[in-house]
Amino acid sequence: MTVETIAPGGEVLRTERLILRRFTFDDVDAYHELFNQPAVEATLIPGPASKDEAGRHIAMIEGHWPLSGFSFFAVIERSTKLLVGRAGPWKPYGMPGIEIGWTMHPRRWRRGYAFEAAVASARWTLERFPDEHRVIHTIAPTNVASQAVARKIGGRKSGEQVFHPLAGPLDIWETPRERFVSFG
Ligand SMILES: CC(C)(COP(=O)(O)OP(=O)(O)OC[C@H]1O[C@@H](n2cnc3c(N)ncnc32)[C@H](O)[C@@H]1OP(=O)(O)O)[C@@H](O)C(=O)NCCC(=O)NCCS
Repeated sequence: MTVETIAPGGEVLRTERLILRRFTFDDVDAYHELFNQPAVEATLIPGPASKDEAGRHIAMIEGHWPLSGFSFFAVIERSTKLLVGRAGPWKPYGMPGIEIGWTMHPRRWRRGYAFEAAVASARWTLERFPDEHRVIHTIAPTNVASQAVARKIGGRKSGEQVFHPLAGPLDIWETPRERFVSFG
């Protein structure tokens, strides 16, 4: 396992339109706003109810770094410098692989941002973990938008499921390592 030395707040990756960087507590307001959008809450478990709770989410995300060597990234739109999403690798205890997840602010939907962040962060992850033959995505059976992102990067349902105590059963989708070679 490679533990990155990038400090909280530091840039991890840059794509054509996005910067993927570590979170800090300065992101609390934007993170709270992102996860309290009704359209986001309709597809995920309820977002952090207060800014205190949003701060706890950020503490959990940043606490994942020293435990695993990676965690979800803050997604910053390069043209505006705004935090417009959360995406990247995640593997809490008991998961059958490294998840690449994605959530974008509804004001930025359907611009290809989730796809752009997903491909960049999956590549970054697989470069660091050469023994992983796939990345996974846990997606509710009703979450059509997230399934479309998974399909677009070349994923498919693996047949496995995990049970989330708040969200219920989630399908595990998987994208094989080979797919990321083709996005040159
Ligand atoms: C899922 C989500 C991240 C997609 O973000 P996005 O930036 O709009 O996705 P992209 O623009 O990169 O789209 C990628 C592909 O998915 C398709 N897609 C996106 N939303 C879709 C929808 N609602 N219905 C059908 N297809 C959709 C796009 O058309 C695109 O495919 P195409 O290029 O072949 O047309 C966003 O809807 C979201 O944040 N939802 C709420 C949180 C959530 O559900 N997170 C995932 C939890 S598993």
